Amino acid sequence: MKWKDVDYTPYTSTTPYSSEEESIRQEDFIQKLSCLVREMAERSGRVPTACVVTFGCQMNARDSEKLCGILSRAGYMLTEDEEADLVVYNTCTVRDNANQRVYGRLGHLNAMKKLLPTKKIALCGCMVQEVEVIEKIRRSYSFVDLIFGTHNIYKFPELLYMSLTSDKMIVDVWKATDQIVENLPVERKYRFKSGVNIMFGCDKFCTYCIVPYVRGRERSRDPKEILNEIEHLAADGVSEVMLLGQNVDSYGKGLEQGITFPKLLSEVAKVDGIRRIRFMTSHPRDLSDELIALMADSDKICSHLHLPVQSGSNRILKAMNRGYTRESYMDLVGRLRKAMPELALTTDIIVGFPGETPEDIEETISLVKEAEYDNAFTFIYSPRTGTPAAEMPRSMSDEEIKAGFDKLLKTVQDTARKRVARYAGRCEEALVEGPNDHDKTMVTGRLSNNLLVHFKAGASLIGSYVNVRLLENKGFYYIGEML
Ligand code: SAH
Ligand code: SF4
Ligand code: F3S
Repeated sequence: MKWKDVDYTPYTSTTPYSSEEESIRQEDFIQKLSCLVREMAERSGRVPTACVVTFGCQMNARDSEKLCGILSRAGYMLTEDEEADLVVYNTCTVRDNANQRVYGRLGHLNAMKKLLPTKKIALCGCMVQEVEVIEKIRRSYSFVDLIFGTHNIYKFPELLYMSLTSDKMIVDVWKATDQIVENLPVERKYRFKSGVNIMFGCDKFCTYCIVPYVRGRERSRDPKEILNEIEHLAADGVSEVMLLGQNVDSYGKGLEQGITFPKLLSEVAKVDGIRRIRFMTSHPRDLSDELIALMADSDKICSHLHLPVQSGSNRILKAMNRGYTRESYMDLVGRLRKAMPELALTTDIIVGFPGETPEDIEETISLVKEAEYDNAFTFIYSPRTGTPAAEMPRSMSDEEIKAGFDKLLKTVQDTARKRVARYAGRCEEALVEGPNDHDKTMVTGRLSNNLLVHFKAGASLIGSYVNVRLLENKGFYYIGEML
C-alpha cells in the first residue's frame, strides 16, 4: 500500500497536540457543533437526526458507541433510520463482501441525498484506511462528505464541524499513530454491559489478514485508564464487561507498568459491581498457563473462550503465519479442558486459503471433531490487497472450496449440537439481554458460557440475572423456563 500518492485534505499526518490537549480541543468542537445543531433545528423546526451504521467486529461496535456519544452530546437525535440528516458508516474490510455491502448501501444513500440535499454522509473505519478505497470513493461516490480513519476517530467532533461548514469532501485518514486519546463521550447500546478497549492494532501479520494494515501497530491502553473506565461503567449500572483487543494475550507489551493480561483481568475482577468478565480475542500462540489458572479460579471470568484456529493443517497454518501447529493447538485445548471441563470453546476457520487442498480441509474437519467446539465461525478466504497471501496462487476451484466449506459447516453444526446438548435440563444463571425478536412474551438471556436462552418473562427483567432451566436444545441456543 502506497500512502505518499494520496492527497490528504486537510491534514497530512498525526496531530501536533498531546492526548490531553486533544481531549480539550475536541470538547471545544463538541460545543461548537451543538451551536450548529441548534441553528439547524431552529431553521428546520425539528431536531436534526443522526444514524451510525456499524459493519465488522466488536472493536467497530465500540467505536460506534463513541461516535454516538459525540453526536448525542452535540444535540443530534440518534436514530436507526438511514433517512437521517447525518449518516455515518463505520466500515469493515476484513473480507471483500464487507466492502461490497458498503458500496451497495452508499448507492441508496445517494438517492436519499438527492431528496434531502442538506444530508451529510460520513465514512470511517477499517475500509477507508485503504488507499484504493479512498480513490474509488473520490471517483465514483463523490457525494460522500467526510472520510476519516481508524487512527483519528477521536477527531470526529472537529471533522464533523468542518464538514458541516464546508461543501467539499473532507478526507482525513492517517497511516498510523502512536497516540491513544482518552475520555471520549460514549453512548452505550446496552445499559448493563459494555465493551472496553484494552489495546488497539495487531502485530501478528497473519498472511491473509488486513487488520494490522488498517488498525496499525499494537498499542496497549494504560491499565489505570482501563480500570477507571470500568469503575465508571460499574457505577453506571454495567455488570458485564468484554475486554477488547485483536490479541488480548499480548496486553501490556510496551507498557512501563510491567502488566500482563492475567494481571489486568485480576484487577478488573476486583471492581465492585462487575459480575461477568469476557474478552476477545485470544491468540493460541500467546495464551499463557497463568491465564488458564486464573480463568479456572475466578467465578467472574466467564466460562467461554474464543480461540481462533483458522485451519487444522500444519502446512496451511505455516503459510498463514499463525505461529502454532495443530498439535500445539490441541495441546492447549487439552490443558484448557483439564483445568475447566465446563469451558465453552468457539473458533474461527478459513476455507480456501491459497495452496489449500481438499485434504487440508479434511484435516480441519478432523480437528473440529477433536476439539468439540461449542460453535465455530467459518469463512471463505477473501484475498486482501497488500497482504502476502493475496500474492499466492489459488489452488482450488470455487466449486471445490464451496464443497469443502459445506462439509466443514455440517461438521461444525453436528459437533456444536452434540456439545450444546450436554446442557439440557441444567439450571443456569442468565443475564437478560433484551426482548425476544420473534415472541414479545419472551426474553433472551445469555449464560456465562455465551449460550443464548429464550424464555417467557417480562421486559422489566432486562439487565438482571435470573436462573433458567434449559429445556429444548435448538442447536446453538436453548428454549428454557425461568425458575
Ligand atoms: N484477531 C482475531 C480476529 C480477527 S478477524 C484473531 O486473530 O483471530 C476475525 C476473523 O476473520 C479471523 O479469525 C479470520 O478467521 C477471519 N478472516 C480474517 N481475514 C480473512 C480473509 N482475508 N478471508 C477470510 N476470512 C478472514
Ligand atoms: Fe488478523 Fe492475525 Fe492479527 Fe487476528 S492475529 S487480527 S487474524 S493478523
Ligand atoms: Fe473488520 Fe476492522 Fe474489525 S477490518 S473485523 S472492523 S478490526
